[in-house]
Amino acid sequence: MKRVLITGGCGFIGSNFIRHTLKHYPDYRLINLDKLTYAGNPGNLTDVENNPRYRFVKGDICDNDLVGKIFAEEQIDTVIHFAAESHVDRSITGPAEFVQTNIMGTFNLLEAAREAWLKDATGKASGTGCRFLHVSTDEVYGSLGQTGAFQETTSYDPRSPYSASKASSDHLVSAYFHTYGLPVLITNCSNNYGPYQFPEKLIPLIVNNALGGRSLPVYGDGKNVRDWLYVIDHCEAILTVLQNGIVGETYNIGGNSEKQNIEIVHTICDILDEKVGLLPDGKNRRTLITYVKDRAGHDRRYAIDATKIRTQLGWKPKVNFADGMRRTVEWYLNNKVWIASVTDGSYREYYEKMYGKK
Ligand code: NAD
Ligand code: DAU
Repeated sequence: MKRVLITGGCGFIGSNFIRHTLKHYPDYRLINLDKLTYAGNPGNLTDVENNPRYRFVKGDICDNDLVGKIFAEEQIDTVIHFAAESHVDRSITGPAEFVQTNIMGTFNLLEAAREAWLKDATGKASGTGCRFLHVSTDEVYGSLGQTGAFQETTSYDPRSPYSASKASSDHLVSAYFHTYGLPVLITNCSNNYGPYQFPEKLIPLIVNNALGGRSLPVYGDGKNVRDWLYVIDHCEAILTVLQNGIVGETYNIGGNSEKQNIEIVHTICDILDEKVGLLPDGKNRRTLITYVKDRAGHDRRYAIDATKIRTQLGWKPKVNFADGMRRTVEWYLNNKVWIASVTDGSYREYYEKMYGKK
C-alpha cells in the first residue's frame, strides 16, 4: 500500500485526483491536507469521505509541526503537492499569500520529506521508493509568440506573481534533488478544465454567467491562447509520472489543444443555447460577450510540447476538446447547487461549523 500525502486535495484538480485514484488504484491510501481557503471545498469529496483509504486533515502546509506529525503518524512515502494559491488575477491584487503558500509552503513540505526520508544520513538510498511529486504549471516558462511550444529545457521566464511563485517553488524542489538527493519529480501542465473548478476561472465563470444571462467578460482582444487539457487526463499523467518517471526529472503535460479565449467563450455559449434554449429575450448567448480591460502582464500564448512524457512514459490525453467541453458544461448544468453554494459562501459557513474557523 502506498501512503500518499495529497496537499490541496479539496481544490479543483486535487479533488478530481483523489476521486479518480481511490476508484482506480486500490493500493493507494490518501491523506488529504488542505487549509480550506476560499478555493478548497471538502464538499467536492463527500462521496469518498467514508472510504477507509481516505483521510482528511484540515491544516496549512506552512505548519511544520502538523506536517511533521502527518509524516510520522501515517508513515508517508509519497507526496503529491497540489496546494497553492492558483489564480493569476488574485496574485496581481494580493501577491503576499502566493509567496507564503506557494514558496514557503513548498519549502516546508520539502523539509518535512527530507527529515522523514533522509534523516538517517545514509543519503540517497534511504529515500528509495519514496517520491515527492510537485504539481506545477506551464506559466513558469512565460509567454510564446505565434509559433513554438514549451519544452522541459525552455528557460523559465515567469511574468505574474503567481507564475513567479510557482517558478520559485520548482527551483526549490529541483535543488532538494541535487543537494540532498530527495527523490523528486516535477510536472508542468497547461490549463485544465472539467468538473469542480472554482467559478473565478475562465470556463466555469463563463458557464455560470451565461446561464444567469449576465455579461461574459473577455480580457483584451480575446485572442490570448491557452492549451486546454481535461482534468482527468492531467490526473492520469501525474500517476504515470509518479509510477514511471525518472527521479529528478521534469515532465511537461499538455492537451495539444490550443484555443483562443474567444473560441472557448463561443463554444460555451453555443452548447448552452443548444441545451437550455436561447435567452428569455430570444437572443443567443454570444450577445452577452463584453470586452473588458486586459489583465496586467497578460501572457499571450501558451503551448506545451508533451513529446517527452508521450515517448518516454507512454502517456497521451484520452479526452478530445469537443467531448471534454460538452461533458464539462453538462456537469455544471447538472450541478447548479454546487455552483450556487461555492459562489454564495454557504459551503464555507457549513464547513466552518464542521472544522472550525482556523
Ligand atoms: P485550486 O485553487 O482549485 O485549489 C488549491 C487548493 O489548495 C485548495 O483546496 C486550497 O484550499 C488549498 N490550499 C491553498 N493554500 C493552502 C495551504 N497553505 N495549505 C494547505 N492547503 C492550501 O487549484 P487547482 O486549480 O486545483 O491547482 C492545483 C495545483 O495545480 C496548483 O499547484 C496549480 O499551480 C497547479 N496547476 C493548475 C492548473 C490549472 O489549470 N488549474 C494547471 C497547471 C498546474
Ligand atoms: O496554464 C496553467 C494555468 O492555467 C494554471 O497554472 C493556473 O493555476 C490556472 O488558473 C490557469 O491560468 P490562466 O490565467 O490561464 O487561467 P484563467 O482561467 O484565469 O484565464 C484563462 C484565460 O482567459 C486567460 O487568458 C485570461 C482569460 N480570461 C479569464 C477570466 C477569468 C478572460 O478573458 N476573462 C475572464 O473573466
